[in-house]
Amino acid sequence: MSQIAFEPWNDPNAKPLIQFKNVTKRFGEFVAIDNQSFDIYEKEFFALLGPSGCGKTTMMRMLAGFEAPTEGTILLGGQDIAPFPPNKRAVNMMFQSYALFPHLSVWDNIAFGLKRDGKSKDQIAARVEEMLKLTRLEQFARRKPHQISGGQRQRVALARSLAKAPKLLLLDEPLGALDAKLRQATQFELMDIQEKTGTTFVIVTHDQEEAMTVASRVAVMDNGKIIQADTPQVIYEAPASRYVADFIGDVNLIDGVAEARKGAQETAPAEPEAAKQAEPEAAKLSEHEAPAAASERRVPQPNARGKWLHDKLFRYILGAREDAPKQLPPPTPGESEAAATASRPDVIAPGGITIHWAEGQPPLIVSNGDPALAGQRVTLALRPEKLGISKDRPESANALKGKVIDIAYLGNLSTYHVELANGLMVKAQLANTRRVAQRDITWEDEVWISFRETAGVVLSE
Ligand SMILES: Nc1ncnc2c1ncn2[C@@H]1O[C@H](COP(=O)(O)OP(=O)(O)OP(=O)(O)O)[C@@H](O)[C@H]1O
Ligand SMILES: [Mg+2]
Repeated sequence: MSQIAFEPWNDPNAKPLIQFKNVTKRFGEFVAIDNQSFDIYEKEFFALLGPSGCGKTTMMRMLAGFEAPTEGTILLGGQDIAPFPPNKRAVNMMFQSYALFPHLSVWDNIAFGLKRDGKSKDQIAARVEEMLKLTRLEQFARRKPHQISGGQRQRVALARSLAKAPKLLLLDEPLGALDAKLRQATQFELMDIQEKTGTTFVIVTHDQEEAMTVASRVAVMDNGKIIQADTPQVIYEAPASRYVADFIGDVNLIDGVAEARKGAQETAPAEPEAAKQAEPEAAKLSEHEAPAAASERRVPQPNARGKWLHDKLFRYILGAREDAPKQLPPPTPGESEAAATASRPDVIAPGGITIHWAEGQPPLIVSNGDPALAGQRVTLALRPEKLGISKDRPESANALKGKVIDIAYLGNLSTYHVELANGLMVKAQLANTRRVAQRDITWEDEVWISFRETAGVVLSE
């Protein structure tokens, strides 16, 4: 059975669990949340990401009921939550500093909220056992918080927040106190628990990798606003602005002026200087070149040598050749073009823009750029892992000469810091499939940085 993608935000019939409608929060004159409207769906793992002071905790506190919006409304399951005090909402918040009761055992910490709600002894016992099992804490039930590790304490706090089966669990920096390894393990546990219980999670984190790992959607905030909220993949691969591109992961940002690309087909110039002089020529050529000529090159041709061999030699052994041998239909021009473009770095996809980014340097070819941006200042965002680095000039749409200034060895990866002709520093990241001593690019080396015409994202804000 194929799994159906979980993306209720794309389903016009899906009903959001949480709706922010023009929510503003002011503290005196200070605007902490600035007129925000967005939806969070049931069973989502929604991550709020942004620099310190951008309003993440404030957003959570309003959801939990510890703060009221100055303007606008927040709906939970279609209902305005304003009249409900925190303990009457099906919401639980695990605070940035998750305070456990030090004098109570793990068991009693988890039972605390249930006891206060006046649940029966049996009900409480059953629920606590269930939570202990879920968070893998059974063997620590009788210990006090100071007798367990930080990660285990974190899980107790989580078990306590989940015990009352909230519809919505708010986690403010829940893993902040853990070391990298434990943090990772706990992330997976969180995802597992979230899946098993079907609770909707909203998590605040400073750690972008964590947000990318756990979240169904990541909201990147700045100054009281959500700048972009989308799946980790879209946030990473198609950031909507320079701010988002820069905030999430490592990125090279190259500024320049866009020009609409002429001609449907171009091939990689042999040398940048030559290319520069030849450019008007190339443009003319592609204007006059019949489009058929270009596509003909990619249509499979009958193999003349094979035919000759058959007729002269093999027909006596194999018998006469059928006139119309069985074969797959030839690829459509679109298919063959796509295939050729995908596998051949020297065939450049048509369309898009070029970006003039440095005096005396060939413009960058960006086939996925919007030609309507012509004449505007734009930024090309390129992830370091999309850049190639080599000593010889590669056959690629874009090849820039530079010098290796620094190399950061990260075990599985190495990041090369390369200074380009105009002084711009770029980072190229390569997987270390070979031993360090065998790698041939080193400090001060003259290298080529290359990337495909589809490797980057053009940002205009
Ligand atoms: N009670 C308050 N009175 C006045 N200003 C406040 C109050 N609470 C928060 N702020 C301000 O609102 C802004 C947002 O605060 P918030 O706690 O939401 O930030 P945050 O994104 O959670 O930051 P961090 O990552 O550091 O936890 C900050 O500038 C903060 O100083
Ligand atoms: Mg905070």
